[in-house]
Amino acid sequence: MTGVRLIVNAAEVVTCAGFSQAAARGKDQGRLGIIPNGAVAISDGKIVAVGSEADLKKSHPVPDDRTIDAGGGVVLPGFVDPHTHLLFGGDRSAEWEQRMLGRDYLDILRAGGGIQTTVAATREASEKELLSHGRLWLRRMLTLGTTTVEIKSGYGLDRDTELRLLKVARQLGAEGRQRIVTTYLGAHVIPEEFRANRSAYLDLVMEIAAEAKEEDLADFFDVFCESEAFNIEETTMLLKGAKALGYGLKIHAGQFSDFGGTAVAAGLGAVSVDHLDYLNDDGLDALAKAGAIGTLLPGVAFHLSLDHYADGRRLIDADIPVALATDFNPGSSFTPSMPMMIALATRHLGMTVAEAIVAATINAAHAVGLGGEVGSLEVGKQADVIICDIPDHKWLGYGFGWNPVREVI
Ligand code: NIG
Ligand code: FE
Repeated sequence: MTGVRLIVNAAEVVTCAGFSQAAARGKDQGRLGIIPNGAVAISDGKIVAVGSEADLKKSHPVPDDRTIDAGGGVVLPGFVDPHTHLLFGGDRSAEWEQRMLGRDYLDILRAGGGIQTTVAATREASEKELLSHGRLWLRRMLTLGTTTVEIKSGYGLDRDTELRLLKVARQLGAEGRQRIVTTYLGAHVIPEEFRANRSAYLDLVMEIAAEAKEEDLADFFDVFCESEAFNIEETTMLLKGAKALGYGLKIHAGQFSDFGGTAVAAGLGAVSVDHLDYLNDDGLDALAKAGAIGTLLPGVAFHLSLDHYADGRRLIDADIPVALATDFNPGSSFTPSMPMMIALATRHLGMTVAEAIVAATINAAHAVGLGGEVGSLEVGKQADVIICDIPDHKWLGYGFGWNPVREVI
């Protein structure tokens, strides 16, 4: 067979198969579909066979120079990072130092710093600067095994900068290194110049949303629902408006308090509800009923040195599909590493390593609407495959702070 390449010499092939139609939940959240001594055949960027090495060597014989040696390691689907704020200007290392000395994250925001600091720097950043910043961090993500990335706007908060961020995100997707999904987050916070006139800003958010939709710049619409950001009434209005424009919905809810946004977003059919560090029983019931994915971001509690993490176990036991994401951003989670999220999930979210791997692959793919295309090793899917230099998949949780990924295909 011409054009086929065969990945061989794997201790395990972790397929995460069987959940392309709907995210894995409950007991299935930990089903990795492991093939010991497995192999994967790929052709034209697609997976054409997955099975035991012995079988695939017969069904897909290839010359030596068409084999990829996994070196006795573990083969997995590329990670999907379904929640990042990849594009911004400047950095927040000074505020992070203050935070480490005990200053509160929301206090910094209230005082006009935090997200507002990054908004000011991002408005100054040219398209060229944002592109090279984006390429740098996407390359770091790729090295760590992430092959699909969701990118939010939200550090512009004016028409020109928000649209610039979304265009840059689309451009990065067109460059083809990773699959990129874009989310419009004009509803991140109220920018300084609109503090005295919130309703005018809400109008502007929806105007930009309409324009971004018309120009096909954004796939999803997101709101930060929290004190210091958008209240329940505003969140409801924004999400309803976005739904009417044809957006898929996402929300930042339950990050610092149980504010009620979870039930609203779930009720409106949000694809995923993100953060969920704080979640009351109503929110849990609403999520379970709606079938929304709970996307957990343990990098935030780690980065801000908080002792409260989301309860992943409670979500999984309530039959809610769980995804993991880095939330990569300069303020609350400055890491591009999905392996680190798996390590944190096993230590702080009450999840097994198998549940965390499913959360970082197929469930994360569903959280960005791509469950049918990426996130698992199955025939017909995009050939986003990673090889990890580890003897078995448990090491993805067991190890931390070093990169287990040796090759990304
Ligand atoms: O997901 N919560 C709001 N947005 C980001 C933080 C953004 C920032 O601090 O710059 C988050 O944590
Ligand atoms: Fe976020």
